[in-house]
Parts: sequence; structure tokens; C-alpha cells
Amino acid sequence: MLLDGKKVSKIILEEVKEKVSKMDKKPHLAVIIVGDDPASKIYVRNKKRTAESVGIKSTVVELPEDTTEETLLNELNKLNNDDDVTAILVQMPLPKQINQEHIICAINPKKDVDCFTPENVGRLAIGLKPYFNPVTPQGILLLLDHYDVPIEGKHAVIIGRSNIVGKPMARMLLKRNATVTVCHSKTKNLAEIIKTADIIISAVGKKVVRCKMVKYKSVFVDVGISRDTNGKLTGDLNWEVDFDNFDDVTEYFERVSPVPGGVGPMTIASLMLNSLNIN
Ligand code: GUN
Repeated sequence: MLLDGKKVSKIILEEVKEKVSKMDKKPHLAVIIVGDDPASKIYVRNKKRTAESVGIKSTVVELPEDTTEETLLNELNKLNNDDDVTAILVQMPLPKQINQEHIICAINPKKDVDCFTPENVGRLAIGLKPYFNPVTPQGILLLLDHYDVPIEGKHAVIIGRSNIVGKPMARMLLKRNATVTVCHSKTKNLAEIIKTADIIISAVGKKVVRCKMVKYKSVFVDVGISRDTNGKLTGDLNWEVDFDNFDDVTEYFERVSPVPGGVGPMTIASLMLNSLNIN
């Protein structure tokens, strides 16, 4: 009863590879990374490796931690104006001296593979097609659709209101005719709300949800990534508290996505799918 992101992402990547092989102009994904954040470095390495495995050209621009906003804007503009580059991703977070909003606003919306720019976010908000769909929310919808999880008319509860996951997820689920509730750190009655959810999407990075807080046979999508006391990757769902073993947990849910092996690989596959768009 798992939402197996590892398996579904492989299927998507095969499709992407097939499509790229038939394209005359090959997509070219450029990634800018500033500084030495270890998690960001791993993400960027995975993106580059995956792009190359499906035939998408990739360039990584690595800038030092003390890069100024002006230098980053110059590098970004070179990519904006490079006709060979079809998609641009600026890895977040950025060092403190750089204003993230200034950078996001400077990305050419037609190359904004993350759907971060005001133009693309605004398009999504008013129901117009953005040039690229938000990457993680699109990956989650592809995962739910693969397993035929019904969305229309269902109550979807999102925990977390970030610009990367929570807010765009809400907009995309509304477009699919779900009833959407967005919860966050100031929500007072989180437990009561999630008990009413058919689909729960948790993107917090802390173990905020216990299995038995949710309705029996609901669908749980775990977007959280953190490390437990043993350094092992773990999500927002506290599997250990309510049950003795894995089978009990998976039987309790209609579907549940594991960490790792759930949303993570879907996000990369979704990015590759977006990279096929040449605008
Ligand atoms: N940092 C963490 N997730 C993301 C993402 O989806 N896109 C970018 N650009 N940076 C991130």
C-alpha cells in the first residue's frame, strides 16, 4: 500500500528519456548553487546526474559562499540570455547577504523551471497555465495519479505553507477540485483538522504527525526530510509510536509514501519532466 516514488519515478524518467531522444533541440538545464550547504550539494549532484542519464544537457554554476547579490545577478543574466539554456534553477537556500526575492524576480519566467517567479506563480494563482508547473507538487500529483488516488471532492489537508511546497500544492489541488485546508505552525487544532482529511500532505521537516492522529484508511504523503537521532533519513510521520511493525502501518493507511523513496525521487523526475518544456 506504499506510494512507491522510486518505482514511479523510474517509469517517468524512461518516458522523459524517450522524448528527449526525439527532440531536435535538446533541453539544457542550468543550475546555480551558491555556497557549501551539504544537503544542497547532494541535491544538485543528483539533479545533474539524473539529467545526464536521460539525455538532458546540464550545467552547474558553483559560486562561493561570499558571493555578492550583484555577482549572482550577473551570472543569472548570462543564463537568461543564453539561447542554448532552456531551464534555470537557482538552488535554495541562498547565503544571508543575498536577497532571495531579488534573485527569484530576475529569473526569466520562460526558463523558470521551479515555477518560482511572480509571473508563473501569478499564472498558477489565476488558473492560467504557468510556463512550468511547481516541481514538488507536480511530482506528488503524478504519484497520486499513478495509484489512482481520487482527488476531486476529497478533503486534502496540507501541513506547511512554504512557497516551494504548501502554497503551490494548495493551488494545484484546488485546480483538481479537492477541498483544501492549509495548516501551519500557528494552526490551533491541527489534530482535529487532520482527522477529517482524506489526503494529508505534510511538508514540515519534523515528526508532527502520528499515524493514529489521521483518519483510518486515509492517504498520507510525506514531504518532510530530517535525520533521526541515529542520523537516518526520516519524514514527518512518526511510524514508530503507534505500531510495532511496518505491515501494521501500511495496513492502517489506504496509501502512504515512505521516506526515503517517496516524494524525493518524484521531485527529481518532475524536474526532468519540466525540463522538456522549451518556451
Ligand atoms: N531547495 C530545496 N528544494 C528546492 C527546490 O525545489 N528548488 C530549488 N531551487 N531549491 C530548492
